[in-house]
Amino acid sequence: MAKKSTVSQSPGKPAMVALYAHYNSDTAVSQYCDAHYGPDKFGVENFPRKIARISTAALEGKPRHSALNLGCAVGRTSFELATHFEQVTGVDFSSRFIDIARRIQKRGRTCYQCPEEGVLSSDHEVCLADLNLAETADRVTFLQGNVGCLETRFCDYDLVLAANLIDRLREPGKFLAGIHQRLVVGGLLVIASPYDWMAQYTPRKQWLGGFFRSGIPLTSLEGLEKKLARHFARVGEPQEVEFVIRETARTFHHNVSQVTLWQRTR
Ligand SMILES: C[S@@+](CC[C@H](N)C(=O)[O-])C[C@H]1O[C@@H](n2cnc3c(N)ncnc32)[C@H](O)[C@@H]1O
Repeated sequence: MAKKSTVSQSPGKPAMVALYAHYNSDTAVSQYCDAHYGPDKFGVENFPRKIARISTAALEGKPRHSALNLGCAVGRTSFELATHFEQVTGVDFSSRFIDIARRIQKRGRTCYQCPEEGVLSSDHEVCLADLNLAETADRVTFLQGNVGCLETRFCDYDLVLAANLIDRLREPGKFLAGIHQRLVVGGLLVIASPYDWMAQYTPRKQWLGGFFRSGIPLTSLEGLEKKLARHFARVGEPQEVEFVIRETARTFHHNVSQVTLWQRTR
């Protein structure tokens, strides 16, 4: 069995484990295996593939040595990034997600189940070779840990990606205040988020936007800009990228994530 490495001293604090129990559940495993490796739905492109393409295209002609994918879930985006980067590090708090990503990397395939209706479910298989991802899969290192307390050695990346992560953090402002330390100067930070703020994950006082300040509405994009202004310049316009999470054969969640690109300036 592969040796397990972790990236923080205490990722298993009981409160955090309870908070993120969902991401270790059978339900989440089905939903994220399907979202990452299952068929496209309703004409919406696979989100991990699209976000990896947006990220790599923005670095066209620039160094693409290493990428850090924070909240990598079951691994698809990291495998996609590995077709362009020499090294990719994928980090997620869910030990179950990381086990699945490592299993796919080691064996090139895995099986998962999706709920159909009632107690009926269907069997599915992921095969990296079928997705043209097998040859570069060994460039990825998957680590279980809390992105809020990554060791300082996780630095000097050309790309840092946080896809659908910030609205699941307890302190997204603190996370953003230190994120430049992970990048080389000139490197790219890609943030994708539906800004689906929920008090159970992010206490109301820690939201980046989506509320009134002194009677004036503050959007999450404005909040992001304020938090990142010191070390980053925004690149291009925000993009709205859809993704679909399948619950059962006939119940789906259709979401839109706002994708913003930020270049580290100092
Ligand atoms: C909404 S999912 C998005 C997964 C993936 N980025 C995607 O777009 O499909 C949020 C992910 O972030 C992970 N996560 C949430 N908080 C985290 C933290 N503090 N440290 C590491 N991972 C975290 C969860 O386990 C989950 O896999």
